[in-house]
Amino acid sequence: EYTQSIKAIRASIMDIARVVDKPEDIEQNVRFIEDGLMLVENGRIEWVGEWEEGKDKIPSTVRIRSYPGKIVMPGFVDTHIHYPQAEMVGAYGEQLLEWLNNYTFPTEARYKDKDYSREMSRFFIKQLLRNGTTSALVFGTVHPESVDALFEEAEKINMRMIAGKVMMDRNAPEYLLDTPDIGYNQTKELIERWHKRGRLLYAITPRFAPTSSPEQLAMAGRLKEEYPDTYVHTHLCENKDEIAWVKELFPEQDGYLDVYHHHGLTGPKSVFAHCIHLEDEEWDCLHETDSAVAFCPTSNLYLGSGLFKLQEAWKRKVKVGMGTDIGAGTTFNMLQTLNEAYKVMQLQQHRLSAFEAFYLATLGGAKSLSLDHLIGNFEVGKEADFVIIDPCSTPLQQLRYDSSKDLPEKLFMLMTLGDDRSIYRTYVDGRLVYERG
Ligand code: GUN
Ligand code: ZN
Repeated sequence: EYTQSIKAIRASIMDIARVVDKPEDIEQNVRFIEDGLMLVENGRIEWVGEWEEGKDKIPSTVRIRSYPGKIVMPGFVDTHIHYPQAEMVGAYGEQLLEWLNNYTFPTEARYKDKDYSREMSRFFIKQLLRNGTTSALVFGTVHPESVDALFEEAEKINMRMIAGKVMMDRNAPEYLLDTPDIGYNQTKELIERWHKRGRLLYAITPRFAPTSSPEQLAMAGRLKEEYPDTYVHTHLCENKDEIAWVKELFPEQDGYLDVYHHHGLTGPKSVFAHCIHLEDEEWDCLHETDSAVAFCPTSNLYLGSGLFKLQEAWKRKVKVGMGTDIGAGTTFNMLQTLNEAYKVMQLQQHRLSAFEAFYLATLGGAKSLSLDHLIGNFEVGKEADFVIIDPCSTPLQQLRYDSSKDLPEKLFMLMTLGDDRSIYRTYVDGRLVYERG
């Protein structure tokens, strides 16, 4: 008997039962158990329900981990983040294209060094865990070493992580460029080494259209054809100057998204960060190809890129997940990211409810990454990645929590006032990987 691998968690438990295609359907699918029990065995959800109903199922040798006043939620899913940019969060004064040239490219040059990449990968994963994020879709740099280092660190805790080496062969400093052939070969090797190794998955990662030649995009498309279950991860329609530049660089293509679509880079496992300034046809194309969008509110506000039209994405049935987009984004924390998402929607006269926000940060994000059959809620058999939330980690939170009348209001307080202090414990693959100090 493997009682060692069984864990019994007693706390309030919240998740969302199923993927929805309109926000109005989320509320009726919210499951909240005030005094709940979750049994985890060998990294999988074994049983979830009322404490009273389940307590007799706990083997007598298993210690009960009791977290009164805390809420167990599925681990957060970050659908767009750059690990090498953790060290340059808060770079002052620029919008996208200048920000890349002045800050980002010089920083990314450091990741040619495997030891440095390893050190920063450790830092990065610790940051994810202390913020309750248990899965992420991650940009490395152009250097394959950067991705090897990240996957090696993620593998140590059997984290479900998707990452890729940047492909870029033009319009960036010489020291950061690959070529169509080098980018192809390095990506292929990384796919062979890492894709589907344990819980790790690979994303073909052309940085964005301006930094790849048509030849390189064709190579990226060829890789996607050769490895159809890999991901594609890139940026799309973030900034107006960027979009104008893409139209100059690819006059033969019918707009920005068509550059990717033409090269076979759209599809159910394609994730496009930002998508702020989309044309009608681009929304249609995202829908028809079942591609996903990463909504990155802190980044979009920080770089002055614009306001993502979340309501339009729902209307057009385009999948959306939340992204922190470190380091144009300013926090690793999903609660703070939801807080900013609320404000982005306020500026567009739309209300982002707490249920919708937590959906996007968990099951909606999992759906965007085509991982909703494995993570995102507490369905029995799913992978046991979860976070124990402390909804009252500060005096102000305590005050507002106590005066909140119901669950939606309490959750809304959590996303408005919460931060890394709200993350009490993080579990990955059924194991405790972070404890608040
Ligand atoms: N577009 C191309 N590269 C980047 C990047 O590193 N960050 C953001 N926010 N947008 C990009
Ligand atoms: Zn980005």
